Amino acid sequence: MISMTKTVYIKTVGCQMNVLDSEMVIADLKRHGYTVVDTPGEADLLLYNTCSIREQAEEKTYSALGKLKETKARHPEKTIGVMGCMAQKDQETIFRRAPFVDMVVGPGQLHAIPDMLTKVTSGEGRQIAVSLGRKDGKQTVVARSHETFDPLRDPTMRPTPFQAYLRIQIGCDKFCTYCVVPNTRGPEQGRSPEEIVSEARVLAEQGALEITLLGQTVNSYRHRGPDGETDMAGLLERLHDIDGLKRIKFVTNYPKDMTARLLETIRDLPKVSPYLHVPAQSGSDAVLKRMKRGYTIADYMEMFERIETILPEASVSSDFIVGFCGETDEDFQKSVKLIERCRFKNSFIFQYSVREGTKAAANLIDDVPREVKAARNNELLAVQDRISKEDNQKLIGDTVEVLVEGPSKKADKSDLDAPIVQMTGRTICDRIVVFDGNRRQAGQLMDIQIDDVSSHTLIGRVKTVEVVSLGMPGLAPSS
Ligand code: 5AD
Ligand code: SF4
Repeated sequence: MISMTKTVYIKTVGCQMNVLDSEMVIADLKRHGYTVVDTPGEADLLLYNTCSIREQAEEKTYSALGKLKETKARHPEKTIGVMGCMAQKDQETIFRRAPFVDMVVGPGQLHAIPDMLTKVTSGEGRQIAVSLGRKDGKQTVVARSHETFDPLRDPTMRPTPFQAYLRIQIGCDKFCTYCVVPNTRGPEQGRSPEEIVSEARVLAEQGALEITLLGQTVNSYRHRGPDGETDMAGLLERLHDIDGLKRIKFVTNYPKDMTARLLETIRDLPKVSPYLHVPAQSGSDAVLKRMKRGYTIADYMEMFERIETILPEASVSSDFIVGFCGETDEDFQKSVKLIERCRFKNSFIFQYSVREGTKAAANLIDDVPREVKAARNNELLAVQDRISKEDNQKLIGDTVEVLVEGPSKKADKSDLDAPIVQMTGRTICDRIVVFDGNRRQAGQLMDIQIDDVSSHTLIGRVKTVEVVSLGMPGLAPSS
């Protein structure tokens, strides 16, 4: 058993899956007597939850770890742990590059952390717990070594107490040639609907109004149980019945699995957000083929039109990789064209980065120069930003329902006692809205009238209700 007075600092980078993993690990450590602190200086245990999706993310982590060399020299009693995708990908390499690290834990082994800590603190030396590689055994055995870690929830570790992530699927079997995730997070496995629904109930009882279902290809969700198979549409129907929940979102979608049945279910369930993040990655068939994405632009457009027909209110967003192996100017212009045709709500744009262990690293040449990648990144971002702004402008004058999250970054710096601060929240379509309000409004659903916009934000004010003055001059509208 670990002593009762230990402190932990955790630094999380990467995707929502990592944010959720950190919440889970902290909940577990709290049950083992740890308390959370905000700075590494105060901590007995320093945990780094890492990302491998691009080289830059890894380099940042190695540089942060490098800075701990002196800390460890001065305080050898502190324990340093590296968890997340980089731990699974680099394994022993982390000990070589940062010899003062005490433990390395892959995302499929997070349950092992308390035991590993006991071993480190009792002098058994460095500890490593990683899952099997994709080729290290039968699929079922490899899958079993990637365990989903979803113990008791800890509302205090969430960005806000009324919003929560809920994992419904781990791993990925799509094997896009550029992507490291099928290796680091292992085979695709859907959690059982019973587990998911019971966790959602707990979250609702803890005050969650909005849950975001997480999976690498969340709309491919499937689970076979004794009562038959549940798909994403079936799962949404079950979650929709939970009292207390007001909004259900889900990320990230895979274009090929955006079926009419799923879209109709989203349309028919008012709590389900019609916000669909469906990464296209490229507008060129030749590039998509080299990426092994499994669809053509004609397929993507067919899906997009299906969304427009069934869910005309939906907002759709995308990811693009620029400068993938062999991408010509002509290919790139097709990505520009796709953004112009689909008019995404927003797009995340990434410059291709070679990832060891992927098919692209083995078989394709990273032949687009760095400057060309950067220029294409800027160009695509400018096109997307212009479109986002134009489409946001159409919302000026409209009233939107906003789940208020809290003070905006700008307001966070202002006086804590200030009565009016800039608050921020999101619409059901995931549009960010800011307005002048007060801190007590966090967690409320409010009607906001939109006065102005930028490409990323709607700027509004709390909707005022017109009061008919009935011949009493000077009666101001109430809010
Ligand atoms: N290089 C650049 N971007 C990548 N992504 C995934 N792998 C790579 C890579 N090797 C992007 C994809 C994905 C998003 C999460 O990260 O666009 O959708
Ligand atoms: Fe990576 Fe492709 Fe799986 Fe997304 S679908 S996690 S890009 S392999």
